[in-house]
Amino acid sequence: MTLQEFQAEIKQGIPSVLPPKHEYDPKVNHAPIRKDILSKEEKQLALKNALRYFDKKHHAVLAPEFAEELKKYGRIYMCRFMPTYDFHARNIEDYPYKSKQAAAIMLMIQNNLDPAVAQHPNELITYGGNGAVFQNWAQYLLTMKYLSEMTDEQTLAMYSGHPMGLFPSHKDAPRVVVTNGMVIPNYSSPDDWEKFNALGVSQYGQMTAGSFMYIGPQGIVHGTTITVMNAARIIEKDNEGVAGKLFVTAGLGGMSGAQPKAAVIAGAIGVVAEVNPAAAEKRYEQGWVDELHYDLDDLVARIKEAQKNKEAVSMAYVGNVVDMWEKFVEEDVFVEMGSDQTSLHNPWAGGYYPVGMSYEEANDMMAHNPKQFKEEVQKTLRRHVEAVNKLTAKGMYFFDYGNAFLLEASRAGADIMKDNGEFKYPSYVQDIMGPMCFDYGFGPFRWVCTSGKAEDLDYTDKLAMDVLEEMASTAPEEISQQMRDNIEWIKGAKANKLVVGSQARILYADAEGRIAIAAAFNKAIKEGKISAPVVLGRDHHDVSGTDSPFRETSNIYDGSSFTADMAIQNVIGDSFRGATWVSIHNGGGVGWGEVINGGFGMLLDGSTDADRRLRSMLFWDVNNGISRRSWARNEGAIFAAKRAMEAEPLLNITIPQIPEDDLLNQF
Ligand SMILES: NC(=O)c1ccc[n+]([C@@H]2O[C@H](COP(=O)([O-])OP(=O)(O)OC[C@H]3O[C@@H](n4cnc5c(N)ncnc54)[C@H](O)[C@@H]3O)[C@@H](O)[C@H]2O)c1
Repeated sequence: MTLQEFQAEIKQGIPSVLPPKHEYDPKVNHAPIRKDILSKEEKQLALKNALRYFDKKHHAVLAPEFAEELKKYGRIYMCRFMPTYDFHARNIEDYPYKSKQAAAIMLMIQNNLDPAVAQHPNELITYGGNGAVFQNWAQYLLTMKYLSEMTDEQTLAMYSGHPMGLFPSHKDAPRVVVTNGMVIPNYSSPDDWEKFNALGVSQYGQMTAGSFMYIGPQGIVHGTTITVMNAARIIEKDNEGVAGKLFVTAGLGGMSGAQPKAAVIAGAIGVVAEVNPAAAEKRYEQGWVDELHYDLDDLVARIKEAQKNKEAVSMAYVGNVVDMWEKFVEEDVFVEMGSDQTSLHNPWAGGYYPVGMSYEEANDMMAHNPKQFKEEVQKTLRRHVEAVNKLTAKGMYFFDYGNAFLLEASRAGADIMKDNGEFKYPSYVQDIMGPMCFDYGFGPFRWVCTSGKAEDLDYTDKLAMDVLEEMASTAPEEISQQMRDNIEWIKGAKANKLVVGSQARILYADAEGRIAIAAAFNKAIKEGKISAPVVLGRDHHDVSGTDSPFRETSNIYDGSSFTADMAIQNVIGDSFRGATWVSIHNGGGVGWGEVINGGFGMLLDGSTDADRRLRSMLFWDVNNGISRRSWARNEGAIFAAKRAMEAEPLLNITIPQIPEDDLLNQF
């Protein structure tokens, strides 16, 4: 297809002539079949909803086709309308546009649906099994059309993938406002999601999927490397370092696939169970995991050898994680660090596979006998926890990895609670990310070079490193470790070959670092040292964007961890301080109804407007969370809030007074 043809297709939107029917491609990794949840009347409603996108003259052809999709897959994806052009982040100038900001958003959308990046591209799912960019192909086509024709005086409102339309606004307003999965709070159970999604009226946007900010597993490799390094620091007895320490976990999917690579970058031995052979083999072929093991005896022998030689190596066990943990108990394997990253935010629809049956058998039971499937999952979780408990009794440090493991295990009746009603194990945010990173404002800042050129990415890496080194020379002791870790990361980032899809990079920085790096990029774009604009963004898994009591805000102890004011304040504040697009989601990471999370995208085009916007928005985007974490009496955040006020006279954060424990104990 020529560039002109591609552009014409984008501008056309939903085609007026029906394209040929799309054949189901068994080679593509497809989303699991969703459960049959709608009544007969509701199925008619789903059909009626789907047909809204099409000229009435096509209804007689499309209605039976969509009804068949609903029956077969549990959803109407409108497969016929999937474009035949390649999905990848093209050079920004390849997109037809009137607003360059809108072109950047098209680039990011296509990156999220690139088959090299996305988990189930045909079903518009980027990661996490259900992290959707759109609910169906009509929404994609219509959104791209709107983006291609909008100007900087308009804003596109998007409701769970559905482009509601273009509305007049102004050049400093976001070009797109995204909401995903927002519902009335009492209607936020997993089955509510199944139903609303099957009806075509709501979607699970995960975090960076529905906000077009996913950059492949690089984002999570970095966060996981920091987590493993800091977990090793927590258990270190005598400054002995990470070498030879064993980190055991599960999941080689969209995000979890980063674990073995991160373990090796951190210098540890990483062992990861993955029940889906296709997922394990994909990670092996991509070089994200060094060895595949199908036999548990072989695996144990290999682990013991790696422990003896203190190798930095990663191994996948292709099988159920519970079989692996039970074998380690039996063989007395000493595990220093343990966790889990199966998709337990989505336990009944393919996120966690029961032990004692094949992957295919489990999928069949999930679709045809969901009640028994649920019982098997819960039984498996109880066995899972029992094995983990035996190893922690021998000294393993176990942490929840933000996948709702502790929550679902407790709901399954596993032995996971202490007498005081708290979980036996911390989440990685309580022990590691919260106190060491988020409270100081350090979080997953990222950027994408819209030229698609590796040279541009190299230049941004250099600029970011220079900025961090300069800052590190005067940084206070409290944040010097974080600075050093990130300088090391950015130095090795290229060699680690982490780019999948767009030319993107991530590092952890605080507000000062993010602003300084962004300003340096904007200046370099203006001077022509970077050949095209750069998109800034971040993971929602950050200081300010996410209220998630079992994850991002699990180290908030003033009783406010179940409130979601911070995430809402964040997205509103970002939107009027210059973000190019903003998003707010129900769900993401730990499950629908369990978290509210938001993010932004910002285009740097070398202009003075971009310079003004980045300073205003990035400052708020971090310091909003600092102020809330500080008000919750988190020590690091109080330090960061006071430091931010010294640097910015217009900032005036309310600092908490902390009463003496002796006084409180009298009551
Ligand atoms: N801590 C973090 O920073 C962080 C970041 C991203 C995602 N997460 C969470 O981690 C989870 C995984 O995310 P993902 O994108 O990799 O999801 P995913 O669905 O792509 O991958 C999960 C993998 O676990 C495998 N699996 C499921 N049950 C298993 C079992 N019993 N034994 C062995 N393997 C099993 C699946 O086959 C799948 O490949 C999600 O809940 C996500 O929200 C946490």
